[in-house]
Order: sequence, then structure tokens, then C-alpha cells
Amino acid sequence: MAIIAPSLLSANFLQLKDDCDMLNKSQADWFHLDVMDGRFVPNISFGPMLVEFFRKATTKICDVHLMIEEPGNYAEAFKKAGADILTVHIEACPHLHRNIQQIKSLGMQAGVAVNPHTPISLLKDVLKDIDLVCLMSVNPGFGGQLFIPNTIQKIKQLRTMIDEQSLNVKIEIDGGVTEQNAQQIIAAGADVLVAGSTVFKSSNPIATIANLKSM
Ligand code: DX5
Ligand code: ZN
Repeated sequence: MAIIAPSLLSANFLQLKDDCDMLNKSQADWFHLDVMDGRFVPNISFGPMLVEFFRKATTKICDVHLMIEEPGNYAEAFKKAGADILTVHIEACPHLHRNIQQIKSLGMQAGVAVNPHTPISLLKDVLKDIDLVCLMSVNPGFGGQLFIPNTIQKIKQLRTMIDEQSLNVKIEIDGGVTEQNAQQIIAAGADVLVAGSTVFKSSNPIATIANLKSM
């Protein structure tokens, strides 16, 4: 059974309390929180202040996805805000190993996100040091985009790399996950499904989450 991580980026920010309550009641496992800086990605979302509010609104795992440059400057702030998992982009980190050490030493789980054009092989030498790989199945920056089909072969390749070394690293798929493609994504070897518009544009988000969970 996959871990379901709704992305609050697609929530209604004028009724965040209601949306958090809905997720708390649902079978959602994690809150996926998308932080964007307008530099690494062409969009700006929110920072540690809002993460702190989400932290207070749920006891579920806060999975913070940093789409920002120089994430090392902010790791401590996100720890203070209550992040359980902190994910940085490999493309934003010339000293990725140092970023991972920093996240772990602050007591968070460490994730590494990879853009659609980035080969999985670049993860080889850090795989044993991290808890999660976030495979971007869209170009990061916006919710509601179409799933890039090439992601399926990347999931399979990464699953093989993880299993060959008997590692305990979760594969998270982020972007364009729908009730139609979720099964294929899980079958390829994914552990965590991020879903923004699929959940929040649904007429019955609780049922949509339950359906994703049942796959
Ligand atoms: C994209 C974000 C995703 C996004 C997913 O930059 O990292 O988490 O919110 O949204 P959907 O599920 O609508 O593609
Ligand atoms: Zn994300």
C-alpha cells in the first residue's frame, strides 16, 4: 500500500484550516509542503512560517519539498518550523553530501529530488545516506501539469538500485499523479504518491484519497 502525500499547494489558502481538517480525517499519510523561491523554479509559494502553521494543524508527517537555491541556509528554519522530512534538489546542490549531513544532523529525514532531465545514476554515491528520493514527474514549479511518461522507467531503474543494495530508501513520485495512472506508478516500484490537483480539485477529496490508498 502506497503512502499518500497530498500537496497543499493546490489547497484553498482562504480555507486552509478546513483543508487540513479534511486531510486529518482522511487516509492521507503525509502533508507534502512545496516551498518555491522564484529562482530555482519560476514560481513563489511559501516558507517556514506557513510550514509552522501546518505543523500545528496536523500530527501527520510534514514532508517539506524545497525547490529553492542554497537550501542549506534554510534547513535550520525548516527544522524549527516542524519539518519531519526535508528534501533538497540535486540540481540546486553542488555540495549535496554536505546538505544531506546537515539535514540528518538536525534530526530530520533527508530527501533528494531529481528533475525530469536528471539521470538516476547521479544518486549512486548518496543513496545509502538518504531516506527518500523524490522523482519529479513534471518540471517543478506548478501544480496541475501532465505526468511525464519517461518517469516510469526511472522508477524501475531506481527500484533496482535500491533493492540491489538492500537499502531502506523511499521512492516518492511528484507531479501529475492521477487516479488513472497511480496503479502503474506503484507497479513500477513507487512508495509515496504526491497528489495536489487530483485531491484538491476532486468533488470528494476524502474518497479520492481512499481510492489512491486502495491501489
Ligand atoms: C510541483 C510540486 C508538486 C505539485 C504537485 O512543483 O512539487 O508537489 O504540487 O501537483 P500536482 O499533483 O497537481 O501535479
Ligand atoms: Zn512537491
